Amino acid sequence: MSATTAMKAGGFVAAAGAVNGASGASDRIFNFNAGPSYLPDEIIRQIQQDIWNFKGTGLGIMEHSHRAKVYDEVITEAEAEVRAIANIPKNYRVVFMTGGSTSQNFIVPTNLLKRGQTADYIVTGYWGQRSYDDAKAVAAQVGGTINLAATSADTNHSYIPDDSAIKLTANAAYLHFTSNNTIYGTQWHRLPSAPSGVPLVCDMCSDIYSRPVDVTKYGLIYASAQKNLGTTGTTIVIVRDDLVECGDPALPRMLQYRTFVKDVSMPNTPPAFAIYTVGLMAKWIKAQGGLAVLAKRNEEKAKVIYDALDATKDFWIAHARVQDRSLMNVVFRAKGGEAVDQKFIAEAKANGMDGLAGHRAAGGMRASIYNAFPIAGCHALAGLIRDFARRNG
Ligand SMILES: Cc1ncc(COP(=O)(O)O)c(C=O)c1O
Repeated sequence: MSATTAMKAGGFVAAAGAVNGASGASDRIFNFNAGPSYLPDEIIRQIQQDIWNFKGTGLGIMEHSHRAKVYDEVITEAEAEVRAIANIPKNYRVVFMTGGSTSQNFIVPTNLLKRGQTADYIVTGYWGQRSYDDAKAVAAQVGGTINLAATSADTNHSYIPDDSAIKLTANAAYLHFTSNNTIYGTQWHRLPSAPSGVPLVCDMCSDIYSRPVDVTKYGLIYASAQKNLGTTGTTIVIVRDDLVECGDPALPRMLQYRTFVKDVSMPNTPPAFAIYTVGLMAKWIKAQGGLAVLAKRNEEKAKVIYDALDATKDFWIAHARVQDRSLMNVVFRAKGGEAVDQKFIAEAKANGMDGLAGHRAAGGMRASIYNAFPIAGCHALAGLIRDFARRNG
């Protein structure tokens, strides 16, 4: 169904030209996928050019040697831009790794957990559980302990635990948490209060650079690029100097953070294209006005959808506790059950809104609205949420 037909049918789809902001291209749909996700129009256009001929070199960005000067500039600039956006202090390194955030689940404890030590984990969702499980596997190898400091599993992860429910270990090696729970749609709007001297380690995979971040409050942050900061293939790790040096130098080289620091993210052939896109996204964020501007925009976008759900709450269940709602992933389902969810997803698809099916662990729908997602798409979805409830309620 074309956007014009959809407007006649439901009146909720934004004008087709608004689907893809800058170019007004009408052949693109609203992409609510949880990641990989949208890239801004102007970046896609830039990539199209650079794939063919990067900076007049006669070779595309994907064809240049990572050892060539031209690529050296790309990776240096990407790192500088990532640092500048969040004002990352001098005593932190930024490295680009591979293996996704999932691999950080074992790389973090391999470097930071020593024999006899305990690390605390707060599990607020599927990914936090996987971090915890892998850390336990590593701890069993090194002779350490992983403490489950808190979990929200009792309500299928619909909330972020209060401080009083978090049982921390004295002198833990670190405290790990997941800032945004992509599958369940909850987000930390404060930091867990780790005892002083205990580094905070954060899986920021699904909300990195969607709001301001005070890096000095963390020991280590990791995030795959493909949601808020580029394409899939690289994981950005922001790590404090003392933690870089924590890993046993006898570990295999590719398992040590210090290898990536020493070899400037290139101990082997790096995910060159993905790193290039991180540089473009970082510049784009700067051009938008930085993280505070993006945070405001992301709040507005999420509010459009949550308001629609709140206005029709006889029909829909929004999964997350109100104060813990994610600004990145809005998770909801119909009170009427799965068949109603499926009908909604099909109707949304027919109206140019794709990627709304929830993860099997949470069911229902999930609207992922990362940095590059346009507010027009939030209005389109909110319109359908209200309209569908009215017609089917
Ligand atoms: C919060 C969180 N952590 C970790 C991951 C895993 O990331 P990757 O697939 O890049 O390993 C995801 C993926 O969606 C995520 O949302």
